[in-house]
Amino acid sequence: MEYRTDHNGLLTLEHVDKVVKLVGWVQKKRNLGSLVFIDLRDHSGIIQLFFPDTEVAKELKSEFLIQITGIVRKKAVANKLLKTGEIEVEVQTLTIINGSETPPLIIDDVTDAGEETRLAYRYLDLRRAPMQEILKIRSQVTQIVHQSFAKLGFMHIETPLLTLSTPGGARDFLVPSRIHPGSFYALPQSPQIYKQLLMIGGVEKYYQIARCFRDEDLRADRQPDFTQIDVETAFLTQDELLAQMETIISEIFKQVKGVNITTPFTRLTYQDAIDLYGSDKPDLRFDLPLSKAPQGLIDAYQKAGFLSLHLKGIRLPNASLTITRKVIDEWTVFLKPFGIKGLVMIKNEQGQLVSSFSKFIDPSSHLSLLQDLQLNDQDVYICTTHDDFKTLSTALGILRLKAIQLLQLKAKQTYAIAWITDFPLFDTNEKGQLVSAHHPFTRPKDSQLSLLTTHPEQVIAQAYDLVMNGYEAGGGSMRIFDKATQHQIFTLLGLSDEAIKQKFGWFIDAFNYGTPPHGGIALGLDRLTMILANTDNIKDVIAFPKNLKMVGLLEKTPNPVEKTQLEELSLRIKESL
Ligand code: AMO
Repeated sequence: MEYRTDHNGLLTLEHVDKVVKLVGWVQKKRNLGSLVFIDLRDHSGIIQLFFPDTEVAKELKSEFLIQITGIVRKKAVANKLLKTGEIEVEVQTLTIINGSETPPLIIDDVTDAGEETRLAYRYLDLRRAPMQEILKIRSQVTQIVHQSFAKLGFMHIETPLLTLSTPGGARDFLVPSRIHPGSFYALPQSPQIYKQLLMIGGVEKYYQIARCFRDEDLRADRQPDFTQIDVETAFLTQDELLAQMETIISEIFKQVKGVNITTPFTRLTYQDAIDLYGSDKPDLRFDLPLSKAPQGLIDAYQKAGFLSLHLKGIRLPNASLTITRKVIDEWTVFLKPFGIKGLVMIKNEQGQLVSSFSKFIDPSSHLSLLQDLQLNDQDVYICTTHDDFKTLSTALGILRLKAIQLLQLKAKQTYAIAWITDFPLFDTNEKGQLVSAHHPFTRPKDSQLSLLTTHPEQVIAQAYDLVMNGYEAGGGSMRIFDKATQHQIFTLLGLSDEAIKQKFGWFIDAFNYGTPPHGGIALGLDRLTMILANTDNIKDVIAFPKNLKMVGLLEKTPNPVEKTQLEELSLRIKESL
Protein backbone atom coordinates (compact mmCIF):
# COMPACT_ATOMS: atom_id res chain seq x y z
CA MET A 1 0.00 0.00 0.00
CA GLU A 2 1.29 3.45 -0.93
CA TYR A 3 2.05 5.99 1.81
CA ARG A 4 0.24 8.82 0.05
CA THR A 5 -1.84 9.67 -2.98
CA ASP A 6 -1.01 13.36 -3.01
CA HIS A 7 1.40 15.97 -1.72
CA ASN A 8 -0.09 18.38 0.81
CA GLY A 9 1.04 21.66 -0.70
CA LEU A 10 -0.08 20.66 -4.19
CA LEU A 11 -3.75 20.07 -3.40
CA THR A 12 -6.07 22.52 -5.16
CA LEU A 13 -9.76 23.16 -5.80
CA GLU A 14 -9.53 20.52 -8.52
CA HIS A 15 -9.17 17.88 -5.83
CA VAL A 16 -12.48 18.77 -4.14
CA ASP A 17 -14.50 15.65 -3.26
CA LYS A 18 -11.54 13.40 -3.98
CA VAL A 19 -10.53 10.83 -1.34
CA VAL A 20 -6.86 11.36 -0.54
CA LYS A 21 -4.26 9.67 1.57
CA LEU A 22 -1.68 12.08 3.00
CA VAL A 23 1.37 12.00 5.25
CA GLY A 24 2.97 14.83 7.16
CA TRP A 25 4.02 16.45 10.40
CA VAL A 26 1.58 18.24 12.67
CA GLN A 27 2.59 21.87 12.44
CA LYS A 28 -0.27 23.40 14.37
CA LYS A 29 -3.31 22.06 16.20
CA ARG A 30 -6.36 24.19 16.97
CA ASN A 31 -9.04 22.75 19.18
CA LEU A 32 -12.39 24.48 18.72
CA GLY A 33 -14.36 22.21 21.03
CA SER A 34 -16.49 20.32 18.55
CA LEU A 35 -13.87 20.41 15.82
CA VAL A 36 -10.11 19.98 15.71
CA PHE A 37 -8.02 21.60 12.97
CA ILE A 38 -4.50 20.61 12.10
CA ASP A 39 -1.99 22.14 9.72
CA LEU A 40 -0.27 19.17 8.13
CA ARG A 41 3.15 19.81 6.59
CA ASP A 42 5.21 17.84 4.12
CA HIS A 43 8.03 19.02 1.81
CA SER A 44 5.53 20.58 -0.59
CA GLY A 45 3.67 22.72 1.90
CA ILE A 46 0.73 22.75 4.28
CA ILE A 47 -2.87 21.57 4.09
CA GLN A 48 -5.50 22.13 6.76
CA LEU A 49 -7.16 18.99 8.12
CA PHE A 50 -10.28 18.95 10.19
CA PHE A 51 -11.33 16.12 12.44
CA PRO A 52 -15.10 15.84 12.84
CA ASP A 53 -14.40 13.43 15.69
CA THR A 54 -12.25 15.34 18.19
CA GLU A 55 -11.55 12.18 20.15
CA VAL A 56 -9.49 10.77 17.26
CA ALA A 57 -7.13 13.75 17.27
CA LYS A 58 -6.76 13.86 21.03
CA GLU A 59 -3.25 12.50 21.18
CA LEU A 60 -1.81 14.59 18.38
CA LYS A 61 0.86 17.12 19.21
CA SER A 62 3.40 19.23 17.33
CA GLU A 63 5.63 17.25 14.98
CA PHE A 64 3.75 13.98 15.32
CA LEU A 65 4.13 12.24 11.98
CA ILE A 66 0.76 11.02 10.81
CA GLN A 67 -0.96 9.44 7.88
CA ILE A 68 -4.61 10.21 7.15
CA THR A 69 -7.26 9.40 4.65
CA GLY A 70 -9.94 11.95 4.04
CA ILE A 71 -12.01 13.91 1.57
CA VAL A 72 -10.97 17.23 0.09
CA ARG A 73 -13.56 19.92 0.83
CA LYS A 74 -13.92 23.51 -0.40
CA LYS A 75 -13.69 25.92 2.50
CA ALA A 76 -16.49 28.37 3.07
CA VAL A 77 -14.00 31.13 3.75
CA ALA A 78 -10.59 30.82 2.12
CA ASN A 79 -7.42 31.34 4.14
CA LYS A 80 -5.50 33.81 1.99
CA LEU A 81 -2.25 33.19 3.88
CA LEU A 82 -2.05 29.58 2.75
CA LYS A 83 -1.38 28.39 -0.80
CA THR A 84 -3.91 25.61 -0.23
CA GLY A 85 -6.19 28.01 1.68
CA GLU A 86 -9.25 27.43 -0.48
CA ILE A 87 -9.59 23.82 0.58
CA GLU A 88 -9.23 21.54 3.57
CA VAL A 89 -9.36 17.80 4.16
CA GLU A 90 -12.04 16.15 6.27
CA VAL A 91 -10.25 13.33 8.04
CA GLN A 92 -11.76 9.85 7.96
CA THR A 93 -8.93 7.69 9.31
CA LEU A 94 -5.77 8.53 11.20
CA THR A 95 -2.58 6.55 11.72
CA ILE A 96 0.17 7.87 13.93
CA ILE A 97 3.37 6.78 12.19
CA ASN A 98 5.63 8.29 14.86
CA GLY A 99 5.12 10.51 17.85
CA SER A 100 7.36 13.43 18.72
CA GLU A 101 8.73 15.07 21.82
CA THR A 102 8.05 18.78 22.12
CA PRO A 103 10.52 20.21 19.61
CA PRO A 104 13.19 22.59 20.95
CA LEU A 105 12.33 25.17 18.29
CA ILE A 106 9.18 26.48 16.69
CA ILE A 107 8.96 24.86 13.29
CA ASP A 108 7.35 27.59 11.24
CA ASP A 109 8.37 30.24 8.71
CA VAL A 110 9.70 32.32 11.58
CA THR A 111 11.26 30.47 14.47
CA ASP A 112 11.93 31.58 18.02
CA ALA A 113 15.20 29.70 18.20
CA GLY A 114 18.68 31.19 18.17
CA GLU A 115 21.33 29.95 15.80
CA GLU A 116 22.86 27.53 18.31
CA THR A 117 19.59 25.65 18.70
CA ARG A 118 18.85 25.75 14.98
CA LEU A 119 22.24 24.22 14.19
CA ALA A 120 22.14 21.69 17.01
CA TYR A 121 18.74 20.47 15.77
CA ARG A 122 19.38 21.19 12.12
CA TYR A 123 17.10 18.33 11.01
CA LEU A 124 14.20 20.17 12.64
CA ASP A 125 15.30 23.56 11.34
CA LEU A 126 15.39 22.10 7.82
CA ARG A 127 11.69 21.21 8.10
CA ARG A 128 10.85 24.91 8.05
CA ALA A 129 9.51 26.16 4.72
CA PRO A 130 12.16 28.89 4.17
CA MET A 131 14.91 26.31 4.65
CA GLN A 132 13.21 23.87 2.29
CA GLU A 133 12.95 26.69 -0.24
CA ILE A 134 16.69 27.39 -0.03
CA LEU A 135 17.54 23.70 -0.40
CA LYS A 136 15.37 23.69 -3.50
CA ILE A 137 17.09 26.75 -4.96
CA ARG A 138 20.51 25.24 -4.35
CA SER A 139 19.53 21.96 -5.94
CA GLN A 140 18.00 23.79 -8.88
CA VAL A 141 21.22 25.76 -9.41
CA THR A 142 23.24 22.55 -9.39
CA GLN A 143 20.96 20.99 -11.97
CA ILE A 144 21.05 24.04 -14.25
CA VAL A 145 24.83 24.06 -13.94
CA HIS A 146 25.03 20.43 -15.07
CA GLN A 147 22.64 21.01 -17.97
CA SER A 148 24.22 24.27 -19.14
CA PHE A 149 27.81 23.03 -19.05
CA ALA A 150 26.83 19.86 -20.88
CA LYS A 151 25.17 21.96 -23.56
CA LEU A 152 28.39 23.94 -24.00
CA GLY A 153 30.42 20.73 -24.35
CA PHE A 154 32.06 20.67 -20.91
CA MET A 155 32.95 17.42 -19.11
CA HIS A 156 32.34 16.92 -15.40
CA ILE A 157 35.48 15.37 -13.91
CA GLU A 158 36.19 14.67 -10.25
CA THR A 159 39.58 15.38 -8.75
CA PRO A 160 41.09 13.92 -5.56
CA LEU A 161 40.10 15.01 -2.09
CA LEU A 162 43.09 13.31 -0.53
CA THR A 163 45.78 15.38 -2.13
CA LEU A 164 48.63 17.68 -1.26
CA SER A 165 48.82 21.29 -0.30
CA THR A 166 47.77 23.61 -3.11
CA PRO A 167 48.17 27.34 -2.70
CA GLY A 168 44.77 28.88 -1.97
CA GLY A 169 45.69 31.53 0.51
CA ALA A 170 44.51 29.66 3.60
CA ARG A 171 45.78 26.91 5.90
CA ASP A 172 45.21 23.34 4.82
CA PHE A 173 43.18 20.71 6.59
CA LEU A 174 45.52 17.76 6.95
CA VAL A 175 44.71 14.05 6.95
CA PRO A 176 47.32 11.77 8.51
CA SER A 177 48.31 8.67 6.56
CA ARG A 178 48.14 5.38 8.46
CA ILE A 179 50.23 3.50 5.93
CA HIS A 180 52.89 6.19 5.74
CA PRO A 181 53.46 7.24 9.35
CA GLY A 182 54.36 10.90 9.67
CA SER A 183 53.01 11.77 6.24
CA PHE A 184 49.83 13.69 5.52
CA TYR A 185 47.39 14.34 2.77
CA ALA A 186 45.85 17.79 2.51
CA LEU A 187 42.23 18.37 1.61
CA PRO A 188 42.11 20.60 -1.48
CA GLN A 189 41.60 24.33 -1.07
CA SER A 190 40.47 24.11 -4.70
CA PRO A 191 41.10 21.70 -7.59
CA GLN A 192 43.44 24.30 -9.14
CA ILE A 193 46.46 22.19 -10.08
CA TYR A 194 44.41 19.19 -11.13
CA LYS A 195 42.25 21.20 -13.46
CA GLN A 196 45.33 22.66 -15.12
CA LEU A 197 46.73 19.15 -15.47
CA LEU A 198 43.46 18.11 -17.10
CA MET A 199 44.11 20.75 -19.78
CA ILE A 200 47.58 19.32 -20.30
CA GLY A 201 45.80 15.96 -20.37
CA GLY A 202 43.87 16.97 -23.47
CA VAL A 203 40.55 17.86 -21.80
CA GLU A 204 39.56 21.18 -23.31
CA LYS A 205 36.48 21.98 -21.28
CA TYR A 206 36.28 20.85 -17.66
CA TYR A 207 33.88 21.71 -14.88
CA GLN A 208 33.22 20.24 -11.49
CA ILE A 209 30.90 20.90 -8.60
CA ALA A 210 33.86 20.66 -6.27
CA ARG A 211 34.11 20.51 -2.50
CA CYS A 212 36.90 22.75 -1.18
CA PHE A 213 38.39 23.04 2.29
CA ARG A 214 40.08 26.05 3.81
CA ASP A 215 41.20 26.55 7.37
CA GLU A 216 40.72 30.31 7.68
CA ASP A 217 38.87 32.75 9.89
CA LEU A 218 35.18 32.38 9.20
CA ARG A 219 32.86 35.21 8.27
CA ALA A 220 29.23 35.57 7.28
CA ASP A 221 30.13 34.52 3.74
CA ARG A 222 32.82 31.91 4.51
CA GLN A 223 32.73 28.26 5.52
CA PRO A 224 35.68 25.91 6.02
CA ASP A 225 34.00 23.31 3.84
CA PHE A 226 32.37 24.92 0.82
CA THR A 227 31.53 24.25 -2.80
CA GLN A 228 32.82 25.70 -6.04
CA ILE A 229 31.51 25.50 -9.55
CA ASP A 230 35.01 24.97 -10.87
CA VAL A 231 35.85 25.54 -14.52
CA GLU A 232 38.89 25.29 -16.79
CA THR A 233 39.18 25.63 -20.56
CA ALA A 234 41.97 25.36 -23.10
CA PHE A 235 42.27 27.45 -26.26
CA LEU A 236 39.71 30.02 -25.16
CA THR A 237 40.59 33.68 -24.79
CA GLN A 238 39.59 35.48 -21.59
CA ASP A 239 36.70 37.15 -23.43
CA GLU A 240 35.47 33.84 -24.82
CA LEU A 241 35.60 32.19 -21.41
CA LEU A 242 33.80 35.04 -19.66
CA ALA A 243 31.10 34.99 -22.36
CA GLN A 244 30.49 31.28 -21.72
CA MET A 245 30.24 31.93 -17.99
CA GLU A 246 27.77 34.75 -18.66
CA THR A 247 25.57 32.33 -20.61
CA ILE A 248 25.45 29.95 -17.66
CA ILE A 249 24.97 32.60 -14.98
CA SER A 250 22.15 34.30 -16.87
CA GLU A 251 20.51 30.92 -17.40
CA ILE A 252 20.60 30.35 -13.63
CA PHE A 253 18.99 33.72 -12.89
CA LYS A 254 16.40 33.18 -15.61
CA GLN A 255 15.36 29.74 -14.41
CA VAL A 256 15.59 30.32 -10.66
CA LYS A 257 14.37 33.91 -10.38
CA GLY A 258 12.71 34.54 -13.74
CA VAL A 259 15.04 37.51 -14.16
CA ASN A 260 16.79 38.42 -17.40
CA ILE A 261 20.34 39.54 -16.70
CA THR A 262 21.71 41.70 -19.48
CA THR A 263 24.81 40.36 -21.17
CA PRO A 264 27.61 41.16 -21.58
CA PHE A 265 27.97 41.93 -17.89
CA THR A 266 29.38 45.29 -16.81
CA ARG A 267 33.16 45.30 -16.74
CA LEU A 268 35.31 47.41 -14.52
CA THR A 269 39.05 47.26 -14.12
CA TYR A 270 40.38 46.69 -10.63
CA GLN A 271 41.89 50.18 -10.73
CA ASP A 272 38.55 51.79 -11.62
CA ALA A 273 36.69 49.71 -9.03
CA ILE A 274 39.02 50.96 -6.31
CA ASP A 275 38.94 54.51 -7.60
CA LEU A 276 35.16 54.73 -8.02
CA TYR A 277 33.86 52.49 -5.24
CA GLY A 278 36.82 51.85 -2.94
CA SER A 279 36.41 48.10 -3.28
CA ASP A 280 37.31 45.27 -5.62
CA LYS A 281 33.83 43.88 -4.96
CA PRO A 282 31.69 46.98 -5.28
CA ASP A 283 27.99 46.78 -4.62
CA LEU A 284 26.81 48.23 -7.91
CA ARG A 285 23.13 48.10 -7.03
CA PHE A 286 23.75 51.62 -5.83
CA ASP A 287 25.32 54.57 -7.67
CA LEU A 288 27.23 56.79 -5.25
CA PRO A 289 30.69 56.81 -6.79
CA LEU A 290 33.63 58.32 -4.94
CA SER A 291 35.08 61.45 -6.50
CA LYS A 292 38.27 63.45 -6.45
CA ALA A 293 37.84 66.65 -4.48
CA PRO A 294 37.76 69.87 -6.56
CA GLN A 295 40.52 72.44 -6.40
CA GLY A 296 38.59 74.70 -3.98
CA LEU A 297 38.58 71.98 -1.38
CA ILE A 298 42.20 71.06 -1.99
CA ASP A 299 43.05 74.70 -1.32
CA ALA A 300 41.05 74.66 1.92
CA TYR A 301 42.80 71.51 3.11
CA GLN A 302 46.12 73.11 2.25
CA LYS A 303 45.21 76.20 4.24
CA ALA A 304 44.22 74.06 7.20
CA GLY A 305 47.50 72.17 6.94
CA PHE A 306 45.80 68.79 6.61
CA LEU A 307 46.41 68.00 2.97
CA SER A 308 48.04 64.67 2.13
CA LEU A 309 48.81 63.41 -1.37
CA HIS A 310 45.23 62.51 -2.29
CA LEU A 311 41.89 64.08 -1.39
CA LYS A 312 38.69 62.26 -2.21
CA GLY A 313 35.13 62.14 -1.06
CA ILE A 314 31.62 60.99 -1.67
CA ARG A 315 28.49 62.96 -2.48
CA LEU A 316 25.39 61.85 -0.59
CA PRO A 317 22.24 63.30 -2.11
CA ASN A 318 19.51 64.50 0.22
CA ALA A 319 21.38 63.37 3.31
CA SER A 320 21.69 66.61 5.23
CA LEU A 321 19.25 65.70 7.99
CA THR A 322 20.52 62.16 8.50
CA ILE A 323 24.26 62.81 8.42
CA THR A 324 24.66 64.76 11.62
CA ARG A 325 27.85 65.79 13.37
CA LYS A 326 27.33 62.78 15.65
CA VAL A 327 27.25 60.41 12.67
CA ILE A 328 30.44 61.91 11.31
CA ASP A 329 32.11 61.49 14.71
CA GLU A 330 31.04 57.84 14.85
CA TRP A 331 32.28 57.18 11.33
CA THR A 332 35.58 58.88 12.10
CA VAL A 333 36.13 56.52 15.03
CA PHE A 334 35.05 53.58 12.89
CA LEU A 335 37.48 54.46 10.09
CA LYS A 336 40.51 55.04 12.35
CA PRO A 337 41.71 51.43 12.10
CA PHE A 338 41.58 51.83 8.32
CA GLY A 339 44.14 54.62 8.48
CA ILE A 340 41.81 57.63 8.37
CA LYS A 341 42.51 60.55 10.70
CA GLY A 342 39.44 62.70 10.13
CA LEU A 343 36.43 63.37 7.96
CA VAL A 344 35.26 66.71 6.67
CA MET A 345 31.60 67.25 5.87
CA ILE A 346 30.22 69.95 3.61
CA LYS A 347 26.50 70.52 3.32
CA ASN A 348 24.31 72.59 1.10
CA GLU A 349 21.60 73.96 3.37
CA GLN A 350 19.23 76.15 1.39
CA GLY A 351 22.01 77.32 -0.88
CA GLN A 352 24.43 77.99 1.99
CA LEU A 353 27.67 76.08 2.45
CA VAL A 354 27.68 74.64 5.96
CA SER A 355 30.80 72.96 7.24
CA SER A 356 33.04 72.84 10.28
CA PHE A 357 35.73 73.49 7.67
CA SER A 358 34.17 76.70 6.35
CA LYS A 359 36.70 78.90 8.09
CA PHE A 360 39.31 77.58 5.68
CA ILE A 361 37.14 78.36 2.66
CA ASP A 362 37.01 81.90 1.35
CA PRO A 363 33.34 83.04 1.69
CA SER A 364 33.46 84.37 -1.86
CA SER A 365 34.08 80.86 -3.17
CA HIS A 366 31.39 79.09 -1.13
CA LEU A 367 28.93 79.06 -4.00
CA SER A 368 31.39 77.92 -6.63
CA LEU A 369 32.57 75.13 -4.31
CA LEU A 370 28.99 73.92 -3.86
CA GLN A 371 28.72 73.94 -7.64
CA ASP A 372 32.01 72.10 -8.16
CA LEU A 373 30.89 69.50 -5.62
CA GLN A 374 27.53 69.25 -7.40
CA LEU A 375 25.76 69.75 -4.09
CA ASN A 376 22.09 70.65 -4.38
CA ASP A 377 20.04 71.73 -1.39
CA GLN A 378 20.25 69.08 1.39
CA ASP A 379 23.13 67.25 -0.29
CA VAL A 380 26.24 66.35 1.65
CA TYR A 381 29.85 65.77 0.63
CA ILE A 382 32.16 63.86 2.96
CA CYS A 383 35.84 63.76 2.25
CA THR A 384 39.18 62.78 3.65
CA THR A 385 42.83 62.77 2.68
CA HIS A 386 45.70 60.29 2.70
CA ASP A 387 49.06 59.73 1.04
CA ASP A 388 48.15 56.23 -0.02
CA PHE A 389 45.50 56.12 -2.73
CA LYS A 390 44.31 52.61 -1.94
CA THR A 391 44.02 53.23 1.81
CA LEU A 392 42.05 56.37 1.11
CA SER A 393 39.74 54.77 -1.45
CA THR A 394 39.17 51.65 0.65
CA ALA A 395 38.17 53.70 3.69
CA LEU A 396 35.77 55.77 1.61
CA GLY A 397 34.43 52.55 0.10
CA ILE A 398 33.58 51.34 3.60
CA LEU A 399 32.00 54.68 4.39
CA ARG A 400 29.98 54.37 1.15
CA LEU A 401 28.45 51.11 2.36
CA LYS A 402 27.70 52.59 5.78
CA ALA A 403 26.00 55.55 4.13
CA ILE A 404 23.91 53.28 1.90
CA GLN A 405 22.72 51.50 5.03
CA LEU A 406 22.10 54.56 7.12
CA LEU A 407 20.28 56.43 4.38
CA GLN A 408 18.34 53.26 3.52
CA LEU A 409 18.97 53.93 -0.14
CA LYS A 410 16.87 52.04 -2.62
CA ALA A 411 18.80 49.74 -4.92
CA LYS A 412 18.43 50.68 -8.58
CA GLN A 413 18.32 47.00 -9.51
CA THR A 414 17.85 43.71 -7.65
CA TYR A 415 20.93 42.05 -9.07
CA ALA A 416 24.05 43.97 -10.02
CA ILE A 417 26.55 41.63 -11.63
CA ALA A 418 29.93 42.70 -12.95
CA TRP A 419 33.37 41.47 -13.88
CA ILE A 420 36.29 43.13 -12.17
CA THR A 421 39.30 42.63 -14.45
CA ASP A 422 42.98 43.48 -14.62
CA PHE A 423 43.88 42.69 -11.03
CA PRO A 424 47.47 43.21 -9.96
CA LEU A 425 49.53 40.02 -10.17
CA PHE A 426 51.03 40.54 -6.71
CA ASP A 427 50.15 42.03 -3.37
CA THR A 428 52.78 42.93 -0.79
CA ASN A 429 52.50 41.39 2.68
CA GLU A 430 53.31 43.05 6.02
CA LYS A 431 56.93 41.94 5.68
CA GLY A 432 57.18 43.68 2.32
CA GLN A 433 57.31 40.38 0.42
CA LEU A 434 55.45 39.75 -2.81
CA VAL A 435 52.52 37.36 -2.51
CA SER A 436 50.17 36.24 -5.27
CA ALA A 437 47.05 38.38 -5.44
CA HIS A 438 45.14 35.44 -6.96
CA HIS A 439 47.41 32.41 -7.09
CA PRO A 440 50.88 31.71 -8.50
CA PHE A 441 49.58 30.16 -11.73
CA THR A 442 47.99 33.40 -12.89
CA ARG A 443 49.33 34.77 -16.15
CA PRO A 444 50.57 38.35 -16.35
CA LYS A 445 49.20 40.41 -19.22
CA ASP A 446 51.44 39.75 -22.23
CA SER A 447 52.31 43.46 -22.42
CA GLN A 448 53.58 43.34 -18.82
CA LEU A 449 56.04 40.47 -19.04
CA SER A 450 59.11 42.69 -19.15
CA LEU A 451 57.96 44.47 -15.96
CA LEU A 452 58.35 41.16 -14.12
CA THR A 453 62.07 41.72 -13.93
CA THR A 454 61.99 45.46 -13.25
CA HIS A 455 58.81 46.29 -11.29
CA PRO A 456 57.00 43.05 -10.47
CA GLU A 457 54.72 44.82 -7.99
CA GLN A 458 53.24 46.83 -10.86
CA VAL A 459 52.45 43.87 -13.10
CA ILE A 460 48.82 43.49 -14.10
CA ALA A 461 47.40 40.00 -14.41
CA GLN A 462 44.86 38.35 -16.66
CA ALA A 463 42.72 37.79 -13.60
CA TYR A 464 39.09 38.56 -12.99
CA ASP A 465 36.47 38.31 -10.30
CA LEU A 466 32.74 37.98 -10.67
CA VAL A 467 31.01 40.39 -8.34
CA MET A 468 27.33 40.17 -7.42
CA ASN A 469 25.63 42.67 -5.15
CA GLY A 470 28.90 43.40 -3.36
CA TYR A 471 29.95 39.78 -2.94
CA GLU A 472 32.90 38.12 -4.60
CA ALA A 473 30.92 35.32 -6.21
CA GLY A 474 33.78 33.98 -8.31
CA GLY A 475 37.37 34.42 -9.33
CA GLY A 476 39.71 33.10 -11.95
CA SER A 477 42.50 33.82 -14.38
CA MET A 478 44.28 32.87 -17.54
CA ARG A 479 47.21 30.65 -16.58
CA ILE A 480 50.88 30.65 -17.22
CA PHE A 481 51.62 27.88 -19.71
CA ASP A 482 55.36 28.07 -20.13
CA LYS A 483 57.87 26.68 -17.74
CA ALA A 484 60.18 29.70 -17.67
CA THR A 485 57.50 32.21 -16.61
CA GLN A 486 56.08 29.82 -14.02
CA HIS A 487 59.57 29.38 -12.58
CA GLN A 488 60.12 33.14 -12.58
CA ILE A 489 56.88 33.72 -10.62
CA PHE A 490 57.78 31.12 -8.01
CA THR A 491 61.19 32.76 -7.64
CA LEU A 492 59.61 36.20 -7.22
CA LEU A 493 57.41 34.68 -4.52
CA GLY A 494 60.59 33.81 -2.65
CA LEU A 495 60.83 30.09 -3.41
CA SER A 496 64.28 28.62 -3.94
CA ASP A 497 64.93 26.32 -6.92
CA GLU A 498 65.01 23.49 -4.42
CA ALA A 499 61.64 24.42 -2.93
CA ILE A 500 60.06 24.87 -6.37
CA LYS A 501 61.26 21.44 -7.36
CA GLN A 502 60.10 19.85 -4.16
CA LYS A 503 56.67 21.50 -3.97
CA PHE A 504 55.71 21.91 -7.59
CA GLY A 505 58.17 19.76 -9.55
CA TRP A 506 55.45 17.22 -10.36
CA PHE A 507 53.33 19.98 -11.82
CA ILE A 508 55.99 21.98 -13.64
CA ASP A 509 57.36 18.80 -15.25
CA ALA A 510 54.06 18.51 -17.09
CA PHE A 511 54.89 21.84 -18.77
CA ASN A 512 57.59 19.95 -20.73
CA TYR A 513 54.99 18.23 -22.88
CA GLY A 514 53.17 20.74 -25.04
CA THR A 515 51.01 22.59 -22.52
CA PRO A 516 48.05 24.36 -24.17
CA PRO A 517 47.11 27.94 -23.31
CA HIS A 518 44.37 27.68 -20.74
CA GLY A 519 42.38 29.56 -18.12
CA GLY A 520 39.44 29.17 -15.83
CA ILE A 521 37.36 30.35 -12.97
CA ALA A 522 35.61 29.09 -9.85
CA LEU A 523 32.24 30.37 -8.73
CA GLY A 524 31.28 30.04 -5.10
CA LEU A 525 28.12 27.93 -5.23
CA ASP A 526 27.29 28.87 -1.65
CA ARG A 527 27.62 32.60 -2.30
CA LEU A 528 25.67 32.38 -5.53
CA THR A 529 22.89 30.60 -3.65
CA MET A 530 22.99 33.25 -0.92
CA ILE A 531 22.27 35.92 -3.51
CA LEU A 532 19.51 33.89 -5.14
CA ALA A 533 18.00 33.07 -1.75
CA ASN A 534 18.35 36.66 -0.59
CA THR A 535 20.24 35.89 2.61
CA ASP A 536 23.49 37.34 3.91
CA ASN A 537 24.31 34.30 6.02
CA ILE A 538 26.18 31.49 4.27
CA LYS A 539 24.98 29.02 6.91
CA ASP A 540 21.45 29.41 5.56
CA VAL A 541 22.41 27.87 2.22
CA ILE A 542 24.34 24.87 3.53
CA ALA A 543 22.39 21.90 4.87
CA PHE A 544 24.85 21.14 7.67
CA PRO A 545 27.18 24.12 8.19
CA LYS A 546 29.77 24.85 10.86
CA ASN A 547 29.29 27.76 13.24
CA LEU A 548 31.73 30.68 13.36
CA LYS A 549 33.99 28.71 15.71
CA MET A 550 34.19 25.98 13.04
CA VAL A 551 32.14 23.62 15.16
CA GLY A 552 29.49 21.29 13.80
CA LEU A 553 26.96 21.75 16.60
CA LEU A 554 24.77 18.84 15.53
CA GLU A 555 27.36 16.12 15.13
CA LYS A 556 29.79 17.85 17.51
CA THR A 557 32.82 18.09 15.31
CA PRO A 558 35.74 18.33 15.71
CA ASN A 559 36.05 15.79 18.49
CA PRO A 560 38.80 13.79 20.18
CA VAL A 561 39.38 10.32 18.75
CA GLU A 562 40.15 6.98 20.37
CA LYS A 563 43.70 6.44 21.57
CA THR A 564 43.94 3.39 19.33
CA GLN A 565 43.13 5.48 16.28
CA LEU A 566 45.92 7.90 17.16
CA GLU A 567 48.30 4.99 17.63
CA GLU A 568 47.40 3.56 14.24
CA LEU A 569 48.24 6.94 12.75
CA SER A 570 51.49 7.18 14.75
CA LEU A 571 50.21 10.39 16.34
CA ARG A 572 50.42 11.59 19.93
CA ILE A 573 48.56 14.56 21.40
CA LYS A 574 50.78 16.94 23.42
CA GLU A 575 50.36 16.43 27.18
CA SER A 576 49.90 20.13 27.79
CA LEU A 577 46.59 20.03 25.91
P1 AMO B 1 39.19 31.69 -5.16
O1 AMO B 1 40.07 31.40 -4.02
O2 AMO B 1 39.01 33.13 -5.57
O3 AMO B 1 39.73 31.01 -6.49
O4 AMO B 1 37.78 31.03 -4.90
C1 AMO B 1 36.75 31.10 -5.86
C2 AMO B 1 35.42 31.45 -5.22
O5 AMO B 1 35.10 30.52 -4.20
C3 AMO B 1 34.35 31.16 -3.18
N1 AMO B 1 35.01 30.96 -1.87
C4 AMO B 1 34.38 30.64 -0.72
N2 AMO B 1 33.08 30.45 -0.45
C5 AMO B 1 32.74 30.11 0.81
N3 AMO B 1 33.63 29.93 1.80
C6 AMO B 1 34.96 30.10 1.59
N4 AMO B 1 35.83 29.90 2.59
C7 AMO B 1 35.38 30.48 0.27
N5 AMO B 1 36.58 30.73 -0.30
C8 AMO B 1 36.34 31.01 -1.59
C9 AMO B 1 34.27 32.63 -3.54
C10 AMO B 1 35.42 32.79 -4.51
O6 AMO B 1 35.21 33.83 -5.42
N6 AMO B 1 41.24 28.01 -7.88
C11 AMO B 1 40.81 29.40 -7.91
C12 AMO B 1 39.88 29.69 -9.06
C13 AMO B 1 40.56 29.77 -10.40
O7 AMO B 1 41.60 30.45 -10.51
O8 AMO B 1 40.03 29.17 -11.35
C14 AMO B 1 40.09 29.70 -6.59
O9 AMO B 1 39.83 28.85 -5.78
O10 AMO B 1 33.04 32.88 -4.17
